[in-house]
Amino acid sequence: MSRENFSITPIIVKFIKQVAIFFPMKAFVTGGSGFIAFPLVKRLLDDGHSVRVLDLKEPPIRYPKLEFLNKSIMDDISEDIRGSDVVFHFAAILGVDNSDKHPLDTMRINLEGSVNVFKSAIEAEVKNMVYSSSSEVYGEPRELPIKEDSVKGPVSTYGVSKLASEIYAKAFNQEKGADIKIVRFFNVYGPGQENNWVVPIFINKAMKNEPITVFGNGNQTRCFTFVEDISDGVMKVFEKGKTGEAYNIGNNHPTTILELAQIVKEVTKSRSEIIKLGFGKDTRLKEREIEYRIPDISKMKEIGWQPKTMVRDGVKKILESMRKN
Ligand SMILES: NC(=O)c1ccc[n+]([C@@H]2O[C@H](COP(=O)([O-])OP(=O)(O)OC[C@H]3O[C@@H](n4cnc5c(N)ncnc54)[C@H](O)[C@@H]3O)[C@@H](O)[C@H]2O)c1
Repeated sequence: MSRENFSITPIIVKFIKQVAIFFPMKAFVTGGSGFIAFPLVKRLLDDGHSVRVLDLKEPPIRYPKLEFLNKSIMDDISEDIRGSDVVFHFAAILGVDNSDKHPLDTMRINLEGSVNVFKSAIEAEVKNMVYSSSSEVYGEPRELPIKEDSVKGPVSTYGVSKLASEIYAKAFNQEKGADIKIVRFFNVYGPGQENNWVVPIFINKAMKNEPITVFGNGNQTRCFTFVEDISDGVMKVFEKGKTGEAYNIGNNHPTTILELAQIVKEVTKSRSEIIKLGFGKDTRLKEREIEYRIPDISKMKEIGWQPKTMVRDGVKKILESMRKN
């Protein structure tokens, strides 16, 4: 084998997996049947750990070391958490528009539910936790790229519920000696995402050759982050992150919504027309649209993570997964 072809990485990965098999962890994952957490659950299982998923819906696939608890994060769950090595807290009610329609339910599940998870874990003497927050805590950014300590100004009930839970997490760290790390995801997409998010909406329209519509003139940017990059980032923060610190996990290469529509159209070889809807009462109010959102990911780079999958490849991977299923 030539020196150029030889890579040490697979050997290290294999070694880490073997170590995990000798020192398996027990992970407790709330919302573990969901779009983002399930790939993390699979990854933990692949690495030889056992996982207890707490969710209101069944995981899409069952595995031998995967235990499912059909319970809510609002329930009495301390005894369910006892004996775990780490809690990954992902369960939430999602979506900016949805949360504005149901503000009290959003605050109850996302804030009260999160406080219940943190308290129950501490009661069960499990101090290691990772809390999944969102780029929505920043609202319309005051500076770009957005650093973890940039000004926060959520413009939706969802964003408020996420920021309030972060503040509780920090208080539990300070007052109860917990070790809750915060991960803020930026526009996640990937296989299995429900059809009310922009990437699957565009893919479905393109596959039917139906018009793809964009709000405004489509020049608003997002940093679409592939779901497997998110799992890698969460594991990095769990292993190497500092207590109480927040980490932006996002793709730092922005894509405009118009570019996304064009990429989807090209990759699916679609004849769809791309239509700019403008802003307004019947589409989306301009003041509710975040124009630019780009994460500063220096903190993640310091602990050895950066995104691997760019949008065109991510869309291709979604299509591959749709063909297989
Ligand atoms: N999707 C994104 O772009 C994005 C961006 C930033 C942050 N996040 C955060 O990531 C986490 C996971 O999001 P997702 O996109 O996988 O959403 P998802 O809806 O696919 O997953 C959430 C899971 O939580 C479960 N759940 C909801 N209420 C519950 C309750 N009361 N008790 C127990 N389980 C409950 C749901 O059944 C679901 O399986 C959430 O905390 C979300 O706020 C997501």
